[in-house]
Amino acid sequence: MNTMPKDRLIIALDLPSAEEAQSAIDAIGDEGTFYKIGYQLMPIGGLDLAKRLSDEGKKVFLDFKFHDIGATVERGVSSVAKLGGDFLTVHAEPDVLKGAVEGRGDDKRLKILAVTVLTSLNQESLTKMGIDTALPDLVLKRAEFAAEAGADGVVASAKEAAAIKARFGDGLKIVTPGVRPAGADANDQKRVVTPADAIAAGADHLVVGRPIIAAKDPSSAARAIQQEIATAVDL
Ligand code: C5P
Repeated sequence: MNTMPKDRLIIALDLPSAEEAQSAIDAIGDEGTFYKIGYQLMPIGGLDLAKRLSDEGKKVFLDFKFHDIGATVERGVSSVAKLGGDFLTVHAEPDVLKGAVEGRGDDKRLKILAVTVLTSLNQESLTKMGIDTALPDLVLKRAEFAAEAGADGVVASAKEAAAIKARFGDGLKIVTPGVRPAGADANDQKRVVTPADAIAAGADHLVVGRPIIAAKDPSSAARAIQQEIATAVDL
């Protein structure tokens, strides 16, 4: 991995307006090198913000979780590639992934990340949806779809990261949310791990939102997490 430790931290801009997101970015300052923009901002200026961040040399994770017929995903991803993003999420189904990889074309920058199984789902929810596969096996099966389609990585909890790393090594990047520095509020996250534990489990990038954007001093909150990541990477 030649990712800079700073770039391993992806800051989730989960805020109600592009103006508030910009204020958070300003408060974080130089510590913030990689930002995640999702549904909340997408329809209200998030795309312009993504382009602006990209033009300023920041990295951008577009968490749009595309899920449609392959041809539509292909066209959508091709349009997203023009924004200059670094990561884009799609759901981990073979046709969706194939469309996404085709839509990305020879863009060297945009990496396609597969959402394997949403962490809001448990075995019972899978059964309700008619899926009998054990959840950890389904995660690995869908990670395999991602690798086979030529996608670049997966979004996975720290709990799932080790098995994915063991199976795919550096063939798939692992991007892990649900991370909390020791002592931080878990908010609504059910299973949280520290930055060091997530790195030890095999995560390449950590997604952290509220512990940074809601901190009194967002810049030092980001710096503290980056330091913990840097120490863990060196271990
Ligand atoms: O504020 P917090 O650190 O909990 O934010 C985590 C971010 O990661 C949010 O944007 C959330 O939507 C996202 N995420 C998650 N769990 C997943 C996938 C994405 O928390 N399984």
